[in-house]
Amino acid sequence: MKYLSIQDLNLQNQRVLMRVDFNVPISATDTILDDTRIVQTIPSIEYVLTQQGKLILLSHMGRPKGKRNQHLSLAPCAKRLADLIGKPVALAPDCIGPDVKSMIDHMKPGEVLLLENLRFHRGEEHPEADSSFAKKLAELGDCYINDAFGAAHRNHSSIVLLPTYFVGKSAIGFLMEKELSSLSPLILSPKRPFHLLIGGAKINTKIGVLTALLEKIDCVYLGGGIVFTFLKAQKHTIGGSLYEEKYLSEAKEFLKKCSERMIQIYFPKDFVVTTDISSGKDSKIVPLEKIEEGWSGVDIGPKTIEYWLPNLSKASTIFWNGPMGIFEIAPFSQGTKDLAKGLSTLQSTIVVGGGDSVAAIHDLKLAKNFSHISTGGGATLEFLRYGRLPGIEVLAIR
Ligand code: 3PG
Repeated sequence: MKYLSIQDLNLQNQRVLMRVDFNVPISATDTILDDTRIVQTIPSIEYVLTQQGKLILLSHMGRPKGKRNQHLSLAPCAKRLADLIGKPVALAPDCIGPDVKSMIDHMKPGEVLLLENLRFHRGEEHPEADSSFAKKLAELGDCYINDAFGAAHRNHSSIVLLPTYFVGKSAIGFLMEKELSSLSPLILSPKRPFHLLIGGAKINTKIGVLTALLEKIDCVYLGGGIVFTFLKAQKHTIGGSLYEEKYLSEAKEFLKKCSERMIQIYFPKDFVVTTDISSGKDSKIVPLEKIEEGWSGVDIGPKTIEYWLPNLSKASTIFWNGPMGIFEIAPFSQGTKDLAKGLSTLQSTIVVGGGDSVAAIHDLKLAKNFSHISTGGGATLEFLRYGRLPGIEVLAIR
């Protein structure tokens, strides 16, 4: 597929609608906990400003379900962006309506306006029920850029409908370009051996990618909550660890296909187990075979890292998605952190996608040691699974 690039558009004095994904983690006191997604859009933002465009940024934040919710305002993002680019970033009170229109009418070339959370309007998430929302957004601009890779898997108005108003004047931004050029080789022609490291809690969000990549991978390492469904499928004793009964047969099928294709599966050698998940107290490290009744596996143990790393070092390409334990509970985040540290020493091309695995890398300030850290969570997995995303397809030029 081919797309227009941000550099193909004439931006001078134009009202540039740029969809970004500023859906960043925010604390209860409205502090941004990780600004990676904002930082990563700066090349596109600065490009528009140097081209003397009037930059109008559009984003969602959280899931307010069509209602205004002050805690999900984009105000903290406007402030953070202003600090990062060293220029004022005005925040509109809404994303459509006469006040927004008037703010845009008064913009000068080289200025930035961030519109308020798109998802305060039901029309954003339901273009089929309210196509007028996209039309109202379209009236605010002269051209469209999508730099929101993290949201490109959503069939939402600002992603799939808004660009249709700008035929020949809609393009992808630099971040989108970087994501596509880093992720596409994994599905087209990954350098072998290609190893897949998959953790996380919900097997339904992972099994599709695992299956889709079967033809291209040489080795799979399973950790996080999902590993217990695979272990159960293999009739291992997993004590009180949580597994998903309804995915047992899919897990079994996946393991069978791996063995038919001589794909090696690496299970953890040891686990951190606990009798009290919420407090993190009363935990110990046990070998895989010794998870007793009443104890739940909540992280991988140190022997697992020792066992996995030498083999991982033989990979040319590694894709890692999902934490190895319950990352949000500090005592159970160690396995993910140790894995991030271990991976950071390898020479392989390592691409990391999604949530807590990325958070671990940023916490440890190891980002520069990885080939690519995707800003997408669900979007990255869907792209690897289907090879396309609605928000990208709509921008393809024929
Ligand atoms: C994400 O955080 O994965 C994107 O911003 C999409 O958010 P959503 O899952 O709420 O649609």
